[in-house]
Amino acid sequence: MRAVVFTAKDFPLSLKTIVKPVPLAKQVVVRMRNAGLNHRDLRLRKEQAGQFPDGIVLGSDGSGIVEEVGEEVDDGLVGQEVVINPGVGWGNNPQVQSDAFKILGFPDHGTFSDYLAIGHTQVFEKPEHLSFAEAAALPLSALTAYRALFSKARVRPGEKILVTGIGGGSALWALKLAHAFKANVYVTSGSDEKIATAINLGAVNGFNYRDPEWQEKAKKTAGGFDIIIDSSGGEEFGRMLDLALPGGRVVIFGQTAGLLQNVSPRTIFWKQLSIFGSTMGTRDEFLSMLDFVHKHSLRPVIDRAFPLEQINEAMTAMESGDRFGKIILTIS
Ligand SMILES: NC(=O)c1ccc[n+]([C@@H]2O[C@H](COP(=O)([O-])OP(=O)(O)OC[C@H]3O[C@@H](n4cnc5c(N)ncnc54)[C@H](OP(=O)(O)O)[C@@H]3O)[C@@H](O)[C@H]2O)c1
Repeated sequence: MRAVVFTAKDFPLSLKTIVKPVPLAKQVVVRMRNAGLNHRDLRLRKEQAGQFPDGIVLGSDGSGIVEEVGEEVDDGLVGQEVVINPGVGWGNNPQVQSDAFKILGFPDHGTFSDYLAIGHTQVFEKPEHLSFAEAAALPLSALTAYRALFSKARVRPGEKILVTGIGGGSALWALKLAHAFKANVYVTSGSDEKIATAINLGAVNGFNYRDPEWQEKAKKTAGGFDIIIDSSGGEEFGRMLDLALPGGRVVIFGQTAGLLQNVSPRTIFWKQLSIFGSTMGTRDEFLSMLDFVHKHSLRPVIDRAFPLEQINEAMTAMESGDRFGKIILTIS
């Protein structure tokens, strides 16, 4: 079978022929239809080169059809159209993942290949209103946004939410989920065009983080925010906390702009802010996210799709600043 095998740092990824997996006990083999790219795939290529001499198949997100099942798996699953939960081994504590937690695509083989062998509890029925390509745009980023919004910030309808860096995959899902829940969503972006697109998708308004006065403008426009969903961090983080309303909740799940800086403890304790860290989500949250997406007939924003052979073009598109939404690979 064909697979995108990653070995050396920054080198072009290569499509190789490797042995098709057979399902072990409790596993299924999925004939992959589509895979989705994440920021993580870019980071791994820079940071984790050379760890496995034979290379590793990248990719956390994907959708496909169950083709084979191993022992102890109901063979009624064969032919099932599925979406894959990339969070493996969360454990029993819903508050935090166990030490055994792994994300599909490193150190285990991921979704950028013709077939994937994976535990049967990792696959879920594909929401029927979504195509395979749309379903592949869901797992990691929609799960992350779901936990951040519902389990951590405990969003309520009518609340004002600021989502930073709306061009990002998880940020876009935070907008979609919160808007469907009837919250009032504001966004930031480095592009006025992306802000305009976010408004078309349901955002109330947006602010360009390249404008040195964006925080003042946000304060004037929105008055402040009950919830801030942030994946950027960086030197602006402290000024952003000034936008939180008293009693506000701030959820951090990424650090696109680097380390948190200029944070005033007084802002946090005097306004009684709650600051949460969040990472992906539990199996239950994955299921709840799928239910929510199905109930509200939500669709992902897809920027572009590339055939599997064009993995390097897809990675370049992922790196480019003009992207809005998910980059998808078409496998079969
Ligand atoms: N903890 C988790 O479970 C989890 C899950 C998913 C992602 N993440 C992390 O979250 C971050 C985003 O991931 P992603 O996959 O959504 O990435 P992505 O699709 O590559 O998006 C990154 C976005 O960051 C925004 N950005 C860049 N500089 C910014 C700044 N100075 N201020 C505000 N926003 C800025 C850009 O928004 P504009 O294009 O709108 O300017 C860009 O679209 C990464 O750090 C990733 O590792 C963590």
